[in-house]
Amino acid sequence: MKENFLIIGIETSCDETALALIQNGKILVSLVSSQVKDHARFGGVIPEIAARKHLEVISHLYNDLLLQAGVKESDIDLITVTQGPGLVGALLVGNVFAKGLAANLGVPLLPVNHVHAHVHGALLSLEDGKKSEDIFPCLSLVVSGGHTNLFYMKSSIHFELVSQSLDDACGECFDKVGKMLGLPYPGGPIIEKTARKGDPTKFPMPKMMTKTKTLDFSYSGLKTHVYYLLQGEKTPLNEETLANICAAFQDNAFEQLVRRLKQACKLFPEVKSVLIAGGVAANLRFRELLSEHLKVPAVFPDLRYCSDNAAMVAAYGEAIYKARGEASLKQDLGFESYSRYHELPKGGF
Ligand code: KG4
Ligand code: ZN
Repeated sequence: MKENFLIIGIETSCDETALALIQNGKILVSLVSSQVKDHARFGGVIPEIAARKHLEVISHLYNDLLLQAGVKESDIDLITVTQGPGLVGALLVGNVFAKGLAANLGVPLLPVNHVHAHVHGALLSLEDGKKSEDIFPCLSLVVSGGHTNLFYMKSSIHFELVSQSLDDACGECFDKVGKMLGLPYPGGPIIEKTARKGDPTKFPMPKMMTKTKTLDFSYSGLKTHVYYLLQGEKTPLNEETLANICAAFQDNAFEQLVRRLKQACKLFPEVKSVLIAGGVAANLRFRELLSEHLKVPAVFPDLRYCSDNAAMVAAYGEAIYKARGEASLKQDLGFESYSRYHELPKGGF
């Protein structure tokens, strides 16, 4: 890799338009334009609105990025973009923008997997001086609005899927339970805040997935439990009941994640660390529980790199290019975006 190799990361998989520049492992600028306000009144992300909003802001954000970093277009050496999984219309905006830029600048394009990229949000936040020998092999858990995936990793670009949610993702469950409780979208941050004033023992909730032999996750049962619990409560809930339900729900949701990580650490005793990533990794109660229960060190992303951002995409692109060089690049630009319901493209990152 030549000195001062400049990489741009592009992220449009859901409701954040994000662009970032990375050079020699350092993020120069990372910009995120969130659409949360545009979707909040619907209680969830509307794919068509998401795609249109990405289209409205992406070129402006690109101009701002270059200006803030003080670089020229012609300085860019590589473009890396989230290929999937995500909302296909939203992904297409970022992918078409990336292809156009690559063709115009005559630089290569490297499409990456969004879920894997999240893990680089945690790696970006490692203390200075920590080396890969201190981290790998490791387990990584991506807990976001779309995924609850546990990976075994031998290096920063080696991902073996150990288990995943069989139904709802953990963050999705926070959002759906938040909606049932009459809280604004997204449910995660507001449930965390409300739970701080609550007592988690007042509404005991059943432990999920205790009889399965695999390390898979499930969140639809917990969501249904809260639904039936609310049928027996007087609405609107008073402040105390609301806080107690949030606290019990949140602890139960995290109990499953902590239990699985403990089991996985036993199954893979060689792991040196556990990387936590994705929007739910921002939750301080979750961080506290993990630090309390895990024997190996848990690494969390800075708060700005938990939710969707392009710094993680650029960092993952840089790691792939460093390890694989020219072999990782798509010369024909003919790749397709893919949703979470598609199989991962063969040989893709
Ligand atoms: O990683 P992300 O921005 O988007 C996806 O790739 O899905 O994650 C968004 C998810 C939402 O479900 C949101 O409710 C959840 O992360 N989230 C949280 C917190 N902050 C965001 N969940 C629990 N506690 C939080 N503090
Ligand atoms: Zn994400």
